[in-house]
Formats: sequence, structure tokens, C-alpha cells
Amino acid sequence: MFSDKSFFEKYGSYYVKGTLYTIFLALIGVFFGAIIGSLLALMKISKNKLLKGIAAVYIEYVRGTPLLVQIFLVFFGSNVLGFELSALVASCLALSLNSAAYVAEIVRAGINAVNKGQTEAARSLGMNQGQAMRFIILPQAIKNILPALGNEFVTVIKESSVVSVIGVSELMFQSGVVQGASFKPFVPIVIASLIYFVLTFSLSRLLGVAERRLRTSD
Ligand code: ARG
Repeated sequence: MFSDKSFFEKYGSYYVKGTLYTIFLALIGVFFGAIIGSLLALMKISKNKLLKGIAAVYIEYVRGTPLLVQIFLVFFGSNVLGFELSALVASCLALSLNSAAYVAEIVRAGINAVNKGQTEAARSLGMNQGQAMRFIILPQAIKNILPALGNEFVTVIKESSVVSVIGVSELMFQSGVVQGASFKPFVPIVIASLIYFVLTFSLSRLLGVAERRLRTSD
């Protein structure tokens, strides 16, 4: 398959660049996704009907439409609104906004999974709702949330491949370039898949170790 010895010499740099872009996109997506998603989760569990409604609609809409469509919405939508986002910025934004909806559910589920008795106990000690959340519920919820956030990172690494459609030079885009330059349709994609696999597999192994540590600290 790799009979051409200089294949890696010729095209290795494309893959290095693509991999760095992919990692960058995933980091940005999950980082801002986690921030926006946590806010959305808090909105959704709040007692304010308006905040609750906005969060619910946002989450349902984002989770109910394809990421591919959202990327186009952000990229072309920004033009219509009069500010021109570069493909890279639009991609970071779309990935963050997309991930936020999934993170919101992760955070909400993590909070809900903490036994209700914990809130009651905190309240009976004289804490108000906010204090109970901050000092009693969230510290325990974190243990449910962190492992799931790690999985979300793995997901976004893979999903970031979609932004190649607007020309961000991440791994899939670069593989397309190599396909064209080498006149080989198959091998460049095999290489991309192996790189994705190494990224996601090593990450989930790492997460497994971290998760076991979290458990033993219980
Ligand atoms: N591929 C699906 C879509 O296009 C799932 C996206 C999942 N995203 C996430 N951040 N977990 O809608």
C-alpha cells in the first residue's frame, strides 16, 4: 500500500498541519462548549420560566439539526448579518455552539444524578438554594460530569471533520489535498482514519485512567 517510499516525506507535513488544526478545533469547541453548556444547564434547571424555555429550545434545536447544517448557518449567517467570519472562526463558533447543547445535557444529568437528600440535608443545615448548589451539589456532580465531558471531547475530535466543507484545513481537508496531489483516492483517507483513531483511542485510554482515579478518591 505504501510502496511509494517518499509518500510520507512528500505529504507528511499536510497531515501534521491537519492534525494540529483538528486538535485545536476540538479544544476550542469543547472549552467554549463547556462554558456555554454549563450556563445552559443552569438556565434549564432554574425556576425562571423564560430562561428555562430559552435553554430548552436551544438545546432541542441544536441537537435536532445536523452539525453540517449548523456550520453553514453560522458561516453564511454571519455574512448576512454583516460581519464576515473566516472559515476557521465560523467553525470554532459552530463547534462550540453545537457542543454546548450536548454539554448542557451532560451537566444537567450530572446534577440530577446527585441524590435529592443532599439538597434537603444542606437546606436543613440552613443553606439557601444557591449555597446548597455551590457547596454540596456541584462538587459531587463534577464527578459525574468530567468523564462525560471527556467523551464529548472524543466526539468533537471526530465531528470536527465536518468543517472541512467550508475549507478549514483540518485533517479531512488535508487528506483531500493529498488525494488530489498524489492521485491516490484511498491511501490518504486510510492515513487520516488512523490518525483520528490514535487521537481518540489514546484520549479515551487516558480518560479511563482519570476516571478510575476519581472513583478511588470517593
Ligand atoms: N453528527 C451528529 C450531528 O451532526 C452529532 C453531533 C454530536 N455533537 C456533539 N458535540 N456531541 O448532529
